Amino acid sequence: MENKKKIINHFLEKDFLISENLLDKIISSNIDYESFDKKEDNIILNEDIYSHFEDEHIKGIDWKEFEKFKVMDEKGKNKEIYKKFLNMIEQDEKEGIEKKIEEIEKGKVQTNEYSDDILIKDEKEGNVEIIFSYDEKSKKRSVLDFVNYFRSRFKQMEPMFKSRLNNNPIISINKIKIKSQNDKISLIGLVNNTSLTKNGHIIIELEDLTGKIKILFTNKAENNENYEKAKEVVLDEMIAIEGTIGQNNEIIFGDNILFAELSLIKELKKSPKEEYAVFMGDPHIGADMFLAEEFENMIKWINGDLDCYKKIRSSNDESISLDKEEEKRIISKIKYMIITGDVVDGVGIYPAQESDLFIKDIKKQYDVFAELLKKIPSHIQIIINAGNHDAMRIAEPQPIIYKEYAEKLCEMPNVIMVSNPGVINIGKTEEFEGFNCLLYHGYSFTYYADVIEDIRSKGGLTRADLIMQILLKKRHLAPSHGSTLYIPDSEKDNLVIEQAPDFFVTGHIHRLTSIPNYKGISLLNCSTWMGETAFQEKVGLKPQIAKLPVANLKTREILIVDFEKEKEDVKNE
Ligand SMILES: [Fe+2]
Repeated sequence: MENKKKIINHFLEKDFLISENLLDKIISSNIDYESFDKKEDNIILNEDIYSHFEDEHIKGIDWKEFEKFKVMDEKGKNKEIYKKFLNMIEQDEKEGIEKKIEEIEKGKVQTNEYSDDILIKDEKEGNVEIIFSYDEKSKKRSVLDFVNYFRSRFKQMEPMFKSRLNNNPIISINKIKIKSQNDKISLIGLVNNTSLTKNGHIIIELEDLTGKIKILFTNKAENNENYEKAKEVVLDEMIAIEGTIGQNNEIIFGDNILFAELSLIKELKKSPKEEYAVFMGDPHIGADMFLAEEFENMIKWINGDLDCYKKIRSSNDESISLDKEEEKRIISKIKYMIITGDVVDGVGIYPAQESDLFIKDIKKQYDVFAELLKKIPSHIQIIINAGNHDAMRIAEPQPIIYKEYAEKLCEMPNVIMVSNPGVINIGKTEEFEGFNCLLYHGYSFTYYADVIEDIRSKGGLTRADLIMQILLKKRHLAPSHGSTLYIPDSEKDNLVIEQAPDFFVTGHIHRLTSIPNYKGISLLNCSTWMGETAFQEKVGLKPQIAKLPVANLKTREILIVDFEKEKEDVKNE
């Protein structure tokens, strides 16, 4: 008690009111407070301020304002402003990161330092073929382009349904009027509208090249399966229905809904050769929140340093302990690194982004990324597509990242740029057809996490697995107009999933999904290399950071190497 009084008096003499938590800390940690001297106006002294008070670079802080926002923060108001203040006084830490990037750039992380004893030098590099990469330049679009875009979607997707509609004759919508009531028919079309009746039945308005018609799906118990399917239907997607013609041929009673679906469940393809692919998304180079140390540790691991990560686990979240020799062997057989966009944080992506950047020049952001990737052994083929933060128009398909910004990346012999979306083939040999990988950054994910009730109720944006599965079911990466920005290409809808890929690889929402076998497809939504942003905190979306999925192409098993640091764990709990 005596001690407490003494400390309080000491600060009062200096015109400071000391906060209770700081008082406790001084006592419990035996902090030498007596040398503390007055530098600024009268304030209440708390832990945040005390820990930075001696720093020369924070002289410009208005401590009264700081205190005001601290109080507001405690009351749950204006949390952003208090955070900004803290960011300012933590500038020294930021400088630390800047130094780290400089060190990385200057090549202090040396590839050879790690690799000599483990790399199999005579092994050939990975084999990558580009199957689809969009490269049409932007041009002015008219309303007609949008009309033709949906026509081309219809024509592309119509064959996906025809062979599966065996029960009733398939007719076009304008032919309904010449049929009789109670006739059984099948229709294929794009969803023009969905609505609920007063009694909770679902009405889907379907449109084909000849007209529109309403289809009713009742919520009666015997129709439950179709009613649940109708709830998954989204605007503008292509579906087929089987149904019965109702009164005056003006409505159809829906008996069944068919989604585009990727044909039959295919057998999981396996390579005869043991090779590995690693998957990475959203590094956001240039952002304050870029996790330089974790990223550097990942590079060290790929170079054979086995002491720089936290743990390895399976895709089922079971902890795995690998024999050192086996781990080195796996590393030596990594042949592919797939990066699904947002490689830099960009500039001007959102209002006032500049205050969240420590590299404010986009070209410099790409330069730094190129320097980092140069530390990765050159026999690893690195495939990169663009995200919404990259230097490229945001409308999809996004061609490859602009060369004038990503010059150094483009110059790297082992870097292959593709569009978003893009399809590549990896691991092909004379005897083996290789694996097709569909790469999509994932801009449309937020829309479907919200509009599809089943996904929303099961966790929304945290459920990349469900979002990926539903898009595969719809065979389209962004079926609804408005779920992403897109180029209405009248020749072809490039967001249709034409063929079942072997790997479907996405990112964007900064969450990790690794499902080795979903109907013969491996689903990977990549972890991020950026800490939690203020926006994510606001919407309650916890990013899953610094995790590297490693897929064995021979077994199709996936290991997750976790580079997230301990202190982040503590913070996340
Ligand atoms: Fe991102």
